Amino acid sequence: MAKAPMDTLQLACIQIAIALLLLTQAKSTTEDTSALHPNATITSCIAGERSSLLAFRAGLSDPTNLLPSWKGDDCCRWKGVYCSNRTRHVVRLDLRGPDYRNGNQSRQVLAGNISSSLLGLHHLRYLDLSQNRFDKKQIPEFIGSLHQLRYLDLSWSQFTGRIPPHLGNLSNLQYLNLDTNSYVSVDSSFHSGTYSTNITWLSRLTSLEHLDMTGVNLSTIVHWLPVVNMLSILKVLLLSDCHLRSSPGSLLLSNLTSLETLDLSENKLHKHGTPNWFWDLTSLKYLDISFNAFYGPFPDEIGNMTSIVELNLGENNLVGMIPSNLKNLCNLERLYCYSNNIDGSITELFNRLPSCSKNKLQKLFLPYNNLTGSLPTTLVEPLRNLSWLDLSENKLTGHVPVWIGELKQLTRLVLNSNNLDGVMHESHLSRLAMLKELTLSDNSIAITVSPTWVPPSSLTMIQLGSCHLGPKFPTWLRWQKNLQNLDISNTSINDIIPDWFWTAASSVESLNIRNNQITGFLPSTMEFMRAEEMDFSSNQLGGPIPKLPITLTDLDLSRNNLVGPLPLDFGAPGLETLILYNNMISGAIPSSLCKLRSLQLLDLSRNNLNGSVSDCLVNESSTNMTDLSIVNLSFRNNNLSGEFPSLLQKCPRLIFLDLGHNQFSGALPSWIGEKLSSLSFLRLRSNMFCGHIPVELTKLVDLQYLDLAYNNISGSIPRSIITWTGMTQTSDNFFDLEHALTSGSEDGESQPVGYAENFTILTKGQERFYTGEIIYMVNLDLSCNSLTGEIPEEISTLMELKNLNLSWNNFNGKIPENVGALMKVESLDLSHNDLSGEIPSSLSALTSLSRLNLSYNNLRGKIPTGNQLQTLEDPASIYIGNPGLCGPPLSVNCSSQPEPIPGENHGDASGDLVSFFLAMGSGYVMGLWVVFCTFLFKKRWRVSWYSLCDSLYDWVYVQVAVTWTSFRGKVNA
Ligand SMILES: *[C@@H]1O[C@H](CO)[C@@H](O)[C@H](O)[C@H]1NC(C)=O
Ligand SMILES: *[C@@H]1O[C@H](CO)[C@@H](O)[C@H](O)[C@H]1NC(C)=O
Ligand SMILES: *[C@@H]1O[C@H](CO)[C@@H](O)[C@H](O)[C@H]1NC(C)=O
Repeated sequence: MAKAPMDTLQLACIQIAIALLLLTQAKSTTEDTSALHPNATITSCIAGERSSLLAFRAGLSDPTNLLPSWKGDDCCRWKGVYCSNRTRHVVRLDLRGPDYRNGNQSRQVLAGNISSSLLGLHHLRYLDLSQNRFDKKQIPEFIGSLHQLRYLDLSWSQFTGRIPPHLGNLSNLQYLNLDTNSYVSVDSSFHSGTYSTNITWLSRLTSLEHLDMTGVNLSTIVHWLPVVNMLSILKVLLLSDCHLRSSPGSLLLSNLTSLETLDLSENKLHKHGTPNWFWDLTSLKYLDISFNAFYGPFPDEIGNMTSIVELNLGENNLVGMIPSNLKNLCNLERLYCYSNNIDGSITELFNRLPSCSKNKLQKLFLPYNNLTGSLPTTLVEPLRNLSWLDLSENKLTGHVPVWIGELKQLTRLVLNSNNLDGVMHESHLSRLAMLKELTLSDNSIAITVSPTWVPPSSLTMIQLGSCHLGPKFPTWLRWQKNLQNLDISNTSINDIIPDWFWTAASSVESLNIRNNQITGFLPSTMEFMRAEEMDFSSNQLGGPIPKLPITLTDLDLSRNNLVGPLPLDFGAPGLETLILYNNMISGAIPSSLCKLRSLQLLDLSRNNLNGSVSDCLVNESSTNMTDLSIVNLSFRNNNLSGEFPSLLQKCPRLIFLDLGHNQFSGALPSWIGEKLSSLSFLRLRSNMFCGHIPVELTKLVDLQYLDLAYNNISGSIPRSIITWTGMTQTSDNFFDLEHALTSGSEDGESQPVGYAENFTILTKGQERFYTGEIIYMVNLDLSCNSLTGEIPEEISTLMELKNLNLSWNNFNGKIPENVGALMKVESLDLSHNDLSGEIPSSLSALTSLSRLNLSYNNLRGKIPTGNQLQTLEDPASIYIGNPGLCGPPLSVNCSSQPEPIPGENHGDASGDLVSFFLAMGSGYVMGLWVVFCTFLFKKRWRVSWYSLCDSLYDWVYVQVAVTWTSFRGKVNA
């Protein structure tokens, strides 16, 4: 028994000994075999090349991490290094970084300097340094001395500056890729990519078959084509986004007979579609001239390109119908012709598609044209093997024909934004087993399938917004397990949300069911879901807000019947937009909101929230005191109380703040001027704030909208209001404001639609819903407070004001003489104060005025006349309650009044105007005069217009709305 362990131990020792012996033997064998060869270098790399590689590595920043395998003697075994089997020379260096386009920000890439030690690799034939980050570096000139190179790829590595003409020395080069792009570097500075002002060096690369200069700025080069034409064996020529402005009509002696691929997209080629040199290249298989400005009819020359496989004419201004000889293109597989002006019937277009090739056509991509008519009632043969059919954003009418169901290869069916109608049944969809995307939004199509129907394919995208799916919740959605994008907004669903829906939608990234009559509850938790954006607004969903998907960034639950408190843990730390207005959410504002560090837009208005806003940051350790990201915050119409929330001190990016219609009290804090320095819109209306207007408030230079009405604020208006440049100067930051208003999504594509509807402004005595144009509103409303003292003269510097309301206060003294400088003011209300003296005649210069109220003061003297003042509605009520006033429109005759003070001429408004203008300084006179004259000239027109409209106000409103719509259109385009 005692011997057994001894034996095991001995055995183990022997085994180890044998293993060691074998190892040493193996080692000596390799040494022996190398010793047998006369050439010791034959099995490892060449020492000189090894040191070249090490020197190259030393030039890189962070070399140890990036090329960890670069150690040991045999450099031929290093990652990315390839040697010739025969000579052991390094012939290939492939250091391509991980793919940029996968969006992998933390990808490990090479950076730093590219050492000229690479010149030690005399036999290098292949060099790939693409997809790295040689930030702000120029392409090194020495690369032109690597004479053996056949293959050179420097694409997507953030090179900038001039392309060195030295590359022209690489006479063996067959493949050259210089694809660069402007980019924003790590330190967020902008770099404009690479350029060349003279590409004659290219003509020496006579072995070149593949040339990619995508993104290289060639804007100064006019005669680029003759240079390229020297490259007679070129097969691939990619000159997309090169800022090219010229492209000749023809090439007298074309050398480019081997060219198969030509990409001229995204240049600045503004010319007629024909003649153009490339139409003669009948060897072409791929031609892309998209995103230029080619105009005129579709060229007939297209029909000569009989080799063509893929043709991209998108985003140009070509008009008419595609040429009838397109039928000759028997190899055509993909036709992209989006965003042109194809007009004519869809049937005609289908009849011009090539039918010579048995069903080669795979992709037909024709959105954003003017195609009309109905889809043909029978299947047109060239379409039979289509995998993509995109006819969206055209003017198609009629039904979706049943033959759509015969396109068995179809993966994308996109027909949105037409005028299609009729019903789609199972027969349209049941055989589409490959279908991945079904987009029919913005048509009047009804989808009526049996409640037991199971779709044959697993869709990833379903976009049916504004189609008709209801009133029952569509049960076929239940079987979709891979959905990423679902839009069934505005589809007349009037039903309870089924439990299975949450499971079916759990993989969806973008989920939109807004604007239906969907009832029922949200699930008790959404943690199992993967949504990034969810829009459930304008339904009748009830119950409390559950814990949200961890991936969620944008949530709109507005206009529902949600109840209960806000969650103590939202569960979505990356939330950027949270829109919950018009619900019945109650309780206090929880400290969990402070954990949403990315939150930019928070709208809790029109709920039943109460209590004071807790300062959830106050208890945080000082190391953790980072600011919140919030830009737009609305607590309007709740029952919140307590002081002005001190939490806001941690919101330095705030632009819109609305605490209106609550029970906040106490004085306005003086830190507001310093801590909320970005504020443009501040609405504290209908609270119980008291104390003075803090002078610090005037430090908010961007403020353009201040509403303190219906509080208990006393004291006088600070004279430093002159610093409110948001009210004194025309703002140019509408874009920023719009962004703030709808913030949340960076790309602007998935903005919470219609969010801006939730802004109301009180002017002209009634609350109106304002949409996005609130960003143009310049407003100062201090009405219904206890303000005293004189209205400061400085008020007249706020020349951008559209609404000025100081009514129902205790202001005394005179109306500032130069109030007429407020040229843009549409509504001016000074009623119910103690103002005395005469009405300044400059008032008649307010050409935008549509509403004026001076009633119930102690004004006296003759009422000024002229211009806009004559057009105001209900003129008598403007002046009522001022017993000292006389003259029209009042019936009191001025002769019965005390004589006016000598020197003031109240009988002639224009005389007063002149002195007023002189007082304003000559530069301003001119601008004012122009407006004034235009106005006089248009008066006849204006008066008749007013008889049509309710008021100028409505007109202005429409104007602003129209301007806004077109502005938005431009921004979105
Ligand atoms: C030894 O190396 C030299 C130089 O690299 C080469 O010319 C020679 O052919 C090699 N000899 C053998 C036997 O491979
Ligand atoms: C070199 O040898 C390796 C391994 O035997 C082989 O995979 C590779 O294809 C060879 N390379 C060349 C260029 O012959
Ligand atoms: C471009 O460079 C070539 C060779 O360096 C030179 O001969 C030619 O004049 C240059 N062209 C222009 C327009 O500068």
